[in-house]
Amino acid sequence: MEGEKGSVCVTGGAGYIASWLIMRLLRHGYSVRATVRSDPKFKEDASHLVKLHGAQERLQIFDADLETPESFEPVINGCIGVFHLSHPMDFEGTMSKETIIKTSVEGILGILQACLKYKTVKKVVYTSSIAAASLFDTTKNIKEIDENQWSDAEMIRKLDFIGAAYIASKTLTERAALEFSKEHGLDVVTILPSTIIGPFINSTLPSSFPMTLPLIFGNEEHARFMKTGHFVHIDDVASAQIFLFECSKAVGRHICNKTDVTIQEIANILILKYSEHLLPNDYLSKWEEEKPDHFSSKKLTELGFKFKYGLEEMIDGALQCCQDKGLL
Ligand SMILES: NC(=O)c1ccc[n+]([C@@H]2O[C@H](COP(=O)([O-])OP(=O)(O)OC[C@H]3O[C@@H](n4cnc5c(N)ncnc54)[C@H](OP(=O)(O)O)[C@@H]3O)[C@@H](O)[C@H]2O)c1
Repeated sequence: MEGEKGSVCVTGGAGYIASWLIMRLLRHGYSVRATVRSDPKFKEDASHLVKLHGAQERLQIFDADLETPESFEPVINGCIGVFHLSHPMDFEGTMSKETIIKTSVEGILGILQACLKYKTVKKVVYTSSIAAASLFDTTKNIKEIDENQWSDAEMIRKLDFIGAAYIASKTLTERAALEFSKEHGLDVVTILPSTIIGPFINSTLPSSFPMTLPLIFGNEEHARFMKTGHFVHIDDVASAQIFLFECSKAVGRHICNKTDVTIQEIANILILKYSEHLLPNDYLSKWEEEKPDHFSSKKLTELGFKFKYGLEEMIDGALQCCQDKGLL
């Protein structure tokens, strides 16, 4: 039975953020076609999705891979919307930077071509990242970052640091999507969440947690990368994705960031509540504290979106889930 709001496709459906979004879309009355990679060599299984409220009647799971973009065609045919979240997330350096970029860019172009071909899709919401709007040129000295800033993907793709492949691929994929939208008149909006933390419905630890919460799950390199951070609650991100899909005035890029903090501020919360889980480290005291830049969500809030959650709720939500699932 199709939900009263119609069918939408969510790519990367077994992932951390997509799973939460699917839960919220089902609650909102949509039917959901989730794509997963069913090959057992990939890490996620989708069993948590089939247990969701409404899943039996309104969730269908399809096998699709960004490496064969045409695999998304039968999923997209008949959908009114696409939420594209799948992305080769590799912070361990197992895939080459160029493979990650190629898979991600060709993947989104294939998905957008399928939307043109079947003509049922009214809007595509691409989940980019503030990594695509980050400034690495310190001479510019801009402290408030908005949607006009783009990361310099060509400069970053030549560098070798943890996260370089991610930043370059997210930037080039978002650019490709918006250029396609302009060229073909397909409605594509992008959301640029900051680091997403909060509870999860997957049974395994979200792949982003070593980067996101390095003092508990990562190492010094992860922690140095997150010396200052920008955070948003997973439920606020899902609300914003649905809000942008439903909002007729939404155009182009939208930063979705709740708070800008230093790693020391996060450490203070962790020391108070989760000290027994902190990895031993002496690097925090070695670093000079940096003031974080501000990623502005003004464009999103001026459209009427409201954030609900603060930093402590994000951290509590994530770590309580880890404890409940025996992952901490
Ligand atoms: N986590 C954050 O803090 C954050 C912040 C901003 C933006 N985002 C964006 O949000 C999206 C979801 O991230 P996440 O944190 O939920 O990561 P995740 O849990 O690792 O989810 C990524 C998903 O992409 C799928 N995927 C990877 N390579 C694929 C391929 N070749 N073909 C098809 N699917 C593929 C994965 O499938 P398998 O399970 O089969 O590997 C997984 O389901 C990404 O686009 C990410 O850039 C995340």
